[in-house]
Amino acid sequence: MCGIVGYTARKDVENRILNTLELLEYRGYDSAGLAIYNEKFQQVVVRKCAGRVSDLREKCQEVPVAGTCGIGHTRWATHGGVCDENAHPHRCGRVTLVHNGIIENYEEIRDHFGLGGELISETDTEVIAALIDKFYDGRPRATISRAIKYIKGTFALVIMFDDKPGVIYAVRNVSPIVAAYTGDGTMLASDVAALGGQADKYMVVPEYHIVELHQNAILVYDEKDQKVKPEFLEIDWDTTRDGKGRYPFYMEKEIMEQPEVIKNALCSRIVDGHISLETDGIPDPLLTDCSRIVITACGTARHVGLASKALMQNILRMHVDVEYASEFMYSNPVIDEKTLVIVISQSGETIDTLEALKYARRQGARSIGVINVKGSSIARESDYVMYTAAGPEIAVASTKAYTTQLAVMYALIGRMAVLRGNFDESQEKSFIEGLLGISAGVQNVLDRRTDIHRIARDLLEAKDAFMIGRGLDYTILLEGALKLKEISYIHTEAYASGELKHGTIALITENTPVIAVVTQHDIKEKELSNIREVQSRGAQLTLFVSEDMELSDQEKYSHVFRLPAMDDRLSIFPVSAALQLLAYYVSMDRGLDVDKPRNLAKVVTVE
Ligand code: F6R
Repeated sequence: MCGIVGYTARKDVENRILNTLELLEYRGYDSAGLAIYNEKFQQVVVRKCAGRVSDLREKCQEVPVAGTCGIGHTRWATHGGVCDENAHPHRCGRVTLVHNGIIENYEEIRDHFGLGGELISETDTEVIAALIDKFYDGRPRATISRAIKYIKGTFALVIMFDDKPGVIYAVRNVSPIVAAYTGDGTMLASDVAALGGQADKYMVVPEYHIVELHQNAILVYDEKDQKVKPEFLEIDWDTTRDGKGRYPFYMEKEIMEQPEVIKNALCSRIVDGHISLETDGIPDPLLTDCSRIVITACGTARHVGLASKALMQNILRMHVDVEYASEFMYSNPVIDEKTLVIVISQSGETIDTLEALKYARRQGARSIGVINVKGSSIARESDYVMYTAAGPEIAVASTKAYTTQLAVMYALIGRMAVLRGNFDESQEKSFIEGLLGISAGVQNVLDRRTDIHRIARDLLEAKDAFMIGRGLDYTILLEGALKLKEISYIHTEAYASGELKHGTIALITENTPVIAVVTQHDIKEKELSNIREVQSRGAQLTLFVSEDMELSDQEKYSHVFRLPAMDDRLSIFPVSAALQLLAYYVSMDRGLDVDKPRNLAKVVTVE
């Protein structure tokens, strides 16, 4: 969380910092700020405010700051409320800095070094600025090294010293920083998406190394202050980003991209009519020698795990556990060297998922990361990586990341089924045929999005909503409910339909919105009878149902949306597109900021 940027260049950097902060705003958008060294007055000038980057831009327009070296920050508040004082950068004496992460022992540091008198804000960050200033002896690297020895927690710190104009220093533990050469200087940022077409190569700053950013050089020093050669990676996804294109929000654009990105994720893994994980470098014994699977992830990515579990148990007949990454290491999970741990993450930076992975590896498990962002921390920590290649996902609510993660998991399951003898040749063939039809199934729903928009209108006034389904349908409803909650603020719960009458049905009264999904043929009748139970309590029912399922009582539904008939194992894809669109239209028609829902951030780098 929190977006960080730094530039040192030949031209003024104010506008570039603001533009990059806009690209990083999905990491946090409570407040924004920048600090630029003004060569004429030989001083660092800070502009910051609560609110969006657009508010900061207005402030900068009133009194622009000239200068060719500067840092910027967009905040997701952890310590201290959302106000101008708590916004970054923080300045103490000769030191100006921005921070992403959490300093767990900031109060201890403050009291031990008697820094309290110098502080203006309530943040953990300002304490570190004061500590570095206290230690500063004209040698930035030595001072930073000394200061970080006292810090417990995660941090990406980007620092300017008044007497070192034109140079930016950075150091990190866990929280990411990348650095790159631009045409006319150098830059650093929290993630590769922020490089925004200014660079074609980047380096990931190694943990506890200190980076010095000069106009013409990126210098990296290890913990012993030895200069090390930075390792540069190619940027092989489009960071230039053509913005939202013709869509009002990134979320809609990303929903609409799904047929294409799902196809890419699958086609690259289907070679000569067989599922192949060769380009992922996954060795067969990894998939044959494991006796159980543990999937761990957060939020939407965890929902991919739940759907995968249903499929794995069904096809592979293996024992699979799906764990909240945030609970993982505290739940004493049963893991050994026969356990295959799969971590799923769009950003590859979610700290809970990263820590869960590290824990699992310490217990001897082998691991696969299903990741979108190349070179991210989780990708680097995993034994093997399957990239989802969805391209940058900017809207806070995940859409194309979810379906591409699912697609990759389906490819993995298909390959395991072949290797472990669950699929014979004809079963593999028909599974692959199904996979190749997913994009068309999703496109079918997207083409009828105006119907979903119509359904959304009936939810605009709702305070609560319920989603019900069974089996694989239930797993997608968990995701559908999360989408509706996070961007429309309607309290929504997904229930396994059979569970309703064990308590929750007490909440279903006249006109309570209930959304039901029925795509699983073997449990259709049971599901329809659960639906009748809520109908008879007056629920306002919307049904998403496969087009090949007959309904005798169609008139009893407020809306019926027909889903393309597909293999039951694959219908989750078109359903997910339908539920994403439903949440999207409710949020948009409620006049909300769809891409930046309140209190959230795209990348969760704090525990
Ligand atoms: C919801 C959403 C989150 C993320 C979760 C994990 O729309 O996006 O629930 O899925 O924060 O993030 P990643 O996948 O980056 O680990």
